[in-house]
Amino acid sequence: MAEKSDSSPGSTSATGASDQQSSEFLSSFIAEIAKSPVNLVLVGIIALLVYKIVKSKIKSEEPVQEVKRLPKLHRDFTIEELKKYDGTGPDKRILVALNGSVYDVTTGAAFYGPGAPYAVFAGRDASRGLATFTLESIKDEYDDLSDLDSEQMSSVKEWELQFNEKYDYVGKLLKPGEVPTNYSDEEDEGSQQETETKSDQQHTKTDDSEVEAKSKDD
Ligand code: HEM
Repeated sequence: MAEKSDSSPGSTSATGASDQQSSEFLSSFIAEIAKSPVNLVLVGIIALLVYKIVKSKIKSEEPVQEVKRLPKLHRDFTIEELKKYDGTGPDKRILVALNGSVYDVTTGAAFYGPGAPYAVFAGRDASRGLATFTLESIKDEYDDLSDLDSEQMSSVKEWELQFNEKYDYVGKLLKPGEVPTNYSDEEDEGSQQETETKSDQQHTKTDDSEVEAKSKDD
């Protein structure tokens, strides 16, 4: 059988020759590196550094997401009033009640926001759910928790400690017929969602010292 001849013009065969040269150079270069484990380690380190540089460049080019902090609330809530703060409102604020206290858990939207694993607690009293470690047990109406045993209540108190550490205390969860506390002597920062319900109750800014004071009271 006749040998296959290169019918392409001279430039093509020249390219082929240079391709062959560079692949020979590359394979001898790789063979040289592979000879010594020290070289292999160095190549590994270089590759890691290049990867880190590229990764940090990609990261820094990503737009920085602005974290909008909502003005602090300080007011008491009935179970009905609490419902609209489930993260679907205009300012996406999320409130959760626990053992008679209401907390602003908006910063924990990854837990309680719409579609999040614990969204069922948003705008509701989570006490029974956390006491019994079930997501289905919480009630829509006021729950006095009187049937919970001491173990379940101590679990609620542990969660309460965690919430006090992590989230802003907002006010009390009102029992049916209970009169809300008037916190009007404090400066009102005005929340977008709050202004809609301003006529319901007074609500004002609280500061960290008050939150601490509340946790100490408890
Ligand atoms: C297989 C079951 C479960 C697993 C593996 C699990 C795991 C987790 C993990 C990894 C976190 C994040 C912790 C953090 O980053 O601080 C978390 C948070 C949380 N879990 Fe669960 N969980 C489970 C069941 C439950 C149940 C049944 C409840 C309640 C009834 C619950 C309530 C919560 C709450 C409220 C948070 C958020 C706490 C916060 O606001 O910081 N979990 N869980």
